[in-house]
Amino acid sequence: MSQRKRVFSGIQPTGEAHLGNYLGAFRRWAEMVNDYECFYCIVDLHAITRDYERPELLRRVFELTVSLMASGIDPERCTLFVQSHVAQHSELAWLFNVVTPVGDLQRMTQYKEKSAGLESVNAGLLNYPVLQAADILLYRADYVPVGDDQRQHLELSRDVARKWNARFGDVFPEPETLTGAGSRVLGLDGVAKMSKSIGNTLPIVADPEQMWSLVRTAVTDPARVRKNDPGNPNVCNVFALHEFVTDDEARADIEIRCQTATIGCVDCKRILSDNLSEHLAPVRERAAELTANPERVVEVLAAGAERARSEAEKTMSIVCERMGVGPDVLAASLREFAPKGP
Ligand code: TYM
Repeated sequence: MSQRKRVFSGIQPTGEAHLGNYLGAFRRWAEMVNDYECFYCIVDLHAITRDYERPELLRRVFELTVSLMASGIDPERCTLFVQSHVAQHSELAWLFNVVTPVGDLQRMTQYKEKSAGLESVNAGLLNYPVLQAADILLYRADYVPVGDDQRQHLELSRDVARKWNARFGDVFPEPETLTGAGSRVLGLDGVAKMSKSIGNTLPIVADPEQMWSLVRTAVTDPARVRKNDPGNPNVCNVFALHEFVTDDEARADIEIRCQTATIGCVDCKRILSDNLSEHLAPVRERAAELTANPERVVEVLAAGAERARSEAEKTMSIVCERMGVGPDVLAASLREFAPKGP
């Protein structure tokens, strides 16, 4: 029987899970368990590279686990866990530091964006992509489903794998980036990527009222000032979002009515908001059930960490052997360098 290919992906517990995460990641993660052996990780060690408060971090880890499970990610069919619960992530990141040029890290767009304007930049922010490479390569993953914004970090993960393999021998596959529909969902401003740090998001567990209060503020075609101006759906983010939740026929109708000014932007937003709320209703319901049953969530994470750890140990034992570190390696190698007897 051929072994299934491996998938790894991660998400930071830094804010409420939003539509960009759902469309760019969760939806696909949930489906991929049918074809691949999947590892999905809540990357708290990445999240602490920014200012954070301890209680907030723990709450976010819990809420994100709930959102992932509520979005259909079945923990019985994949390994769902928290990064800091598997110590090997940090260990491998340290070992990868020695094959990663600082210049490559300084060139990362996300590093430049996140460090801009900071008086003091912590080393974790610079080394962030090394930890990301460790996350993926620890499980020797073949594929990494992510949104567009992660492409550069994944290129670096491949460089790390290549450099490490060249120096210590082939161990790591070069992981392939998988992006697809929904890999760059724009925020309510219609300009920037939907992002927790910008605050232009639609949370996936928003109730219909909250959803409407957010969707009604979304920016539409800027050239359409009055209701009887014809609109251009091709430049309108609200119309783009319809693609994910409105059927083809209804969308074609909205498109024509927007172009002929027989539907206004508010009506178009109302339909979007209603369709989003309906589409996400099962997610909201499952999230409420899980939140009322926190022990189940903790159990899932404990089981996930145990499975992840046993895979991580396998990789670390080969890595330590090749790099000449770790207690087992020293004990097994004593004879190689001990002075020969008379
Ligand atoms: P993070 O936490 O910012 O986002 C998690 C996932 O959601 C995707 N995403 C989006 N997709 C489409 N449109 C958007 N507006 C949008 N916003 C976010 C992201 O691309 C990502 O797939 N560094 C990573 C976390 C990470 C990781 C990993 C990912 C750590 N280690 C290993 C993959 C593999 C991050 O900050 O994602």
